[in-house]
Amino acid sequence: MNIIVVEYDPNWKNEKYPIPGNRNVQFINNTITKSNIIVGDYSYYDALNGESFEDQVLYHYEALGTKLNIGKFCSIAPETRFMMGGGNHRMDGSTYPFNIFCNGWEVYTPTLEQLPIKGDTIVGNDVWIGRRATIMPGVQIGDGAIIGAESVVVKDVEPYTIVGGNPAKEVRKRYSPEIIEELLEISWWDLDIEIINQNIEAIESGDIESLRKIKKQF
Ligand SMILES: CC(C)(COP(=O)(O)OP(=O)(O)OC[C@H]1O[C@@H](n2cnc3c(N)ncnc32)[C@H](O)[C@@H]1OP(=O)(O)O)[C@@H](O)C(=O)NCCC(=O)NCCS
Repeated sequence: MNIIVVEYDPNWKNEKYPIPGNRNVQFINNTITKSNIIVGDYSYYDALNGESFEDQVLYHYEALGTKLNIGKFCSIAPETRFMMGGGNHRMDGSTYPFNIFCNGWEVYTPTLEQLPIKGDTIVGNDVWIGRRATIMPGVQIGDGAIIGAESVVVKDVEPYTIVGGNPAKEVRKRYSPEIIEELLEISWWDLDIEIINQNIEAIESGDIESLRKIKKQF
């Protein structure tokens, strides 16, 4: 295998727009203003028209106490939406939200327990989310998973699994169970960026032999 090592600027990861002249592709963690969205280094959102990643996270009210947690090196295509728990109305009787109209009906504000909030949404590392996917509240997506374009993800997705459709169903696993276990053990995304920089070809090609060797060294 050819080893091509490019010079790496450690400050580059702090760029909001890492591609010169492109105002759509954004390193998400450098754009976040809300404390309830936590995103790892190098994960990017490719905006359709300059919108920020946060614009795509809907009904994510701080008072609800839930978080959106995304790992490192995730690729999030345009128009992906994260529906968060604040969008869910009460469902034990009328679904009409009387309390929001501030005409005295605010006394009927539901308690957090009465709302179907569903908890944190968690996306692992090296996850690729296809265009116009919708991720529903409380879903957990494992490392290395792929979410097909236009999917609506309503259930957890296992690591290194491709899902698609509405509701999203498993298309296939990306590797055998043994290799998946090993890749999770290697967790290349947690290696030092200098090491990652020297081994991008092995990472990109899923060259498990080389990844094993790299992991043994560190
Ligand atoms: C999910 C995806 C990665 C699968 O790629 P693939 O493995 O080459 O898939 P194939 O075309 O061989 O299809 C495999 C099966 O998955 C289904 N499938 C593929 N994409 C799907 C999608 N987005 N939603 C639902 N089902 C999908 C196919 O119908 C096929 O089903 P079958 O086995 O029952 O016939 C790809 O189809 C996709 O959606 N990519 C996202 C592209 C994108 O949004 N890019 C934005 C810029 S980053």
